[in-house]
Amino acid sequence: MSASPARREDTRVGATPEAIQAHYDAGDAFFALFLDPTRTYSAALFANGADDLEAAQLAKIDWHLERAGVRAGKRLLDIGCGWGGLIERAVTTHGAAEAVGLTLSAAQARHVSASRNARLSARLEDWADHTPAAPYDAITSVGAFEHFAAAGLAREVRVAAYGRFFAKCADMLAPGGRLSLQTIAYPTGFDRAAYDATDYGVFVREHIFPESDLPTLPEILEAADDAFEPVIIRNDRRCYARTARIWRGRLRAREAEAVALVGERRVRDLDRYFRTSAGAFDIGTLQLLRLAFQKKLAFQKKRTRACP
Ligand SMILES: C[S@@+](CC[C@H](N)C(=O)[O-])C[C@H]1O[C@@H](n2cnc3c(N)ncnc32)[C@H](O)[C@@H]1O
Repeated sequence: MSASPARREDTRVGATPEAIQAHYDAGDAFFALFLDPTRTYSAALFANGADDLEAAQLAKIDWHLERAGVRAGKRLLDIGCGWGGLIERAVTTHGAAEAVGLTLSAAQARHVSASRNARLSARLEDWADHTPAAPYDAITSVGAFEHFAAAGLAREVRVAAYGRFFAKCADMLAPGGRLSLQTIAYPTGFDRAAYDATDYGVFVREHIFPESDLPTLPEILEAADDAFEPVIIRNDRRCYARTARIWRGRLRAREAEAVALVGERRVRDLDRYFRTSAGAFDIGTLQLLRLAFQKKLAFQKKRTRACP
C-alpha cells in the first residue's frame, strides 16, 4: 500500500469557499440592483457633505489606495477584491503598474477577468495560498477580514488566525510597504456569546454570512503587532449606517426584480440585515474600522536572519 501524500498543515479557520459563494454568488444581476456602478460591497466614505453613493464609494477606494501608497508604477494586491472596483481604479486613476485581486467567489473572479485591462487580474484563491511573482508595493483589504475567522472560536484562536494574515501580508510586501484595511468590528468588551445566542445572531450566522465572525480593534492590533505598526485608525461607523440604508432603499425600489432573480427569502433576509445593521452602526454596537499599517523594519530583519 502506498503512503498517503504529504499534506501541509492547514491552520485556516475562516470561511470556506462554499460559505463565501453561498452569499456572493447569488448572481451579479442581483447585486447590480442595489450596489453602485462600481459594484462596491463595503462601507462608502461620506465626507464633505457628499451623499451620492458612487462618489462616496470612489472616495473610500481612493482613501485606501492613497493610504497604501499606490502610485504610478506600483504593484498592488487587493485581498477580497469583490467585483474589482478598487483594482480597476488603482490602474486607471492611480497609475498602478499591476493590480491583482484575490476572491473566493467564482462569479466575482469571472467578472474581473472579463475586463480588457491587461494590468488587472483576479484570482480565485485564498490569501493563505497566494504566492506573489514578486513582492507587492502595497496591499489593500476592504470588507474581507470579517471572513477570516469563523464564529464560535476562542479569542486566542481568532487572534492567531488574524496574526497569520498579517504575517502573510508582511511576507508579500516589499520593505516599507503599506497595508490598508477596512473591517466591521465589535466594540471592545462586546458580549459576543450573548449576541451569538440571540435570534439575530443566529440569523446572521445561518442566512447572511456563514462561517464568519467579527474582530475587535484590540484583537486586530495585537495580531498585527509582530509585523506592522498602525499609522491611522478610524471608526467610520456612521458611514456604514448610511451605506446600508442606501442599499436597502435601492433594494426595496427594485424588489420585484430582486425576488424574480433570487427569491423572496433572500431579499427579505438582506432587507432585515441592512435595516438592523444600520441601527447597530448608529448606536455603536458595530464599528467600521479603517486602518493603515506600515510594515515594520524589524519584521524584515527577523525574516532575513531566519533565512541565511
Ligand atoms: C464584502 S466583499 C468585499 C469586496 C470588495 N473589497 C468591496 O469592497 O466591494 C468580501 C470579499 O472577500 C473575499 N474573501 C473572503 N475570504 C477570503 C479569503 N480567505 N481569501 C480571499 N478572498 C476572500 C470574498 O470572496 C469577497 O470578494
